[in-house]
Amino acid sequence: MAIQDELQETIEQLVQKGKGILAADESNPTIAKRFDAIGVESTEEQRRRYRSLILETPGLGDYISGIILFEETLEQRTDEGTLLPELASLQGVVAGIKVDKGKGPLANAPGDEITQGLDGLEQRLAGYKAQGARFAKWRNVYHISSHTPSPLAVEANAEVLARYAAICQSQGIVPIVEPEVLMDGEHDIQRCAEVSEVVLHALFHALHRHRVVLEHALLKPSMVTPGNRHPHQARPEEVARETVRILRRTVPAALPSINFLSGGQSPEQATANLNAMNALAPQPWELSFSYGRALQQPALLAWKGDPDNVAAAQAALYRRAGLNGAARRGEYQTNME
Ligand code: 13P
Repeated sequence: MAIQDELQETIEQLVQKGKGILAADESNPTIAKRFDAIGVESTEEQRRRYRSLILETPGLGDYISGIILFEETLEQRTDEGTLLPELASLQGVVAGIKVDKGKGPLANAPGDEITQGLDGLEQRLAGYKAQGARFAKWRNVYHISSHTPSPLAVEANAEVLARYAAICQSQGIVPIVEPEVLMDGEHDIQRCAEVSEVVLHALFHALHRHRVVLEHALLKPSMVTPGNRHPHQARPEEVARETVRILRRTVPAALPSINFLSGGQSPEQATANLNAMNALAPQPWELSFSYGRALQQPALLAWKGDPDNVAAAQAALYRRAGLNGAARRGEYQTNME
C-alpha cells in the first residue's frame, strides 16, 4: 500500500465518533509510581498482567479506537499466548507506540527541558511497525514559571516535535504530536492561555517547515487551565472556552482530530472538561481524548494487583471509557457518575 493510503487508513481508524485513545504507554519509572500507589511491585510480570487486563477488557473497542503502548508491551503475551498488539487488533483497537526517550534539561535555558530520541528513530519505527504499531506518540513538556518557557525552549521543542512527526510519516506511521504545558504552578488560566498560544503557534510553524502533512497527524495538547496551586480552579465551561479559543487561533482546520491528555486532572474533571468543549459550536476538528491517568485510575484502584479483581477493574475501565465516549459527543452529565 502507498504510504499516503496507509496513513489515511490509520487516521480513519483512530478518528471515530464517540471514541478516543487510551494512553497505556507509561515508561517503567512512571508505571512504578502508579503501581506503588496501589501497593503493587512493578515487575515485568505484573506489568504484563495489568496490560493484558486492559487489552482483554470486553468491548474495549466500543469507545477506544487506539491504544498507545510502551516498547516492552509490544513483545508481551496474554496467559493464553496472544501477543498484546494482536489482541488490540482483535478488539478493533489500533496499536500505537511511545517513541520518545524521555526528557532532560535544555542547555542554556535554566528550568526548561527538551525531549530526546531522534537518533535512530527511523530504524526503530520500522521495527515497531513490523510488531504491529500503526501510530506513534512523542511528548515534549513546557514548564510555566516567571521565566519559562523561554523563547529558546519554545523554538527547540517545536523543532524536535516537527522532526519526529516528519520521520514518522516517512515510515507510514501516524504521529501524535504532544506538546504538554504542565499544570504545575500558581499561575492563572490567562497565563496558561498565553503560553499555550505561543507553544502551539511555534509548533505549527515548525510542522509546516518540515512539510508534515497535517491531514495525517494528530495533536495531543494539554487543556488551558489554571495552575494546580492557583486558589481558583476553573469550571468546565471556562476551561472549554479558553482552550477552544487558543486552539482556533493556532491549529489549522486540516488537522483531523485533537486528542487531549489528562495531565493530572481527576477522571471526572477530564470528562467534564472534554464534554464542555464538545458542547460548544461545531469546530473544524474533532475534539477527543488520549487519556492515561483519567482513564486508568479507577481500573488501577479496583485491581490492586489481585487476580480476583480483574473483572471489576475491566468494568471500571469500560465504564470510564463510556463516559468519555459520551463527552466526545457532548452528551455527558455529572449524574451519569
Ligand atoms: P495523562 O492523561 O495521564 O496525562 O497521560 C497521557 C500521556 O500519554 C502523557 O504522555
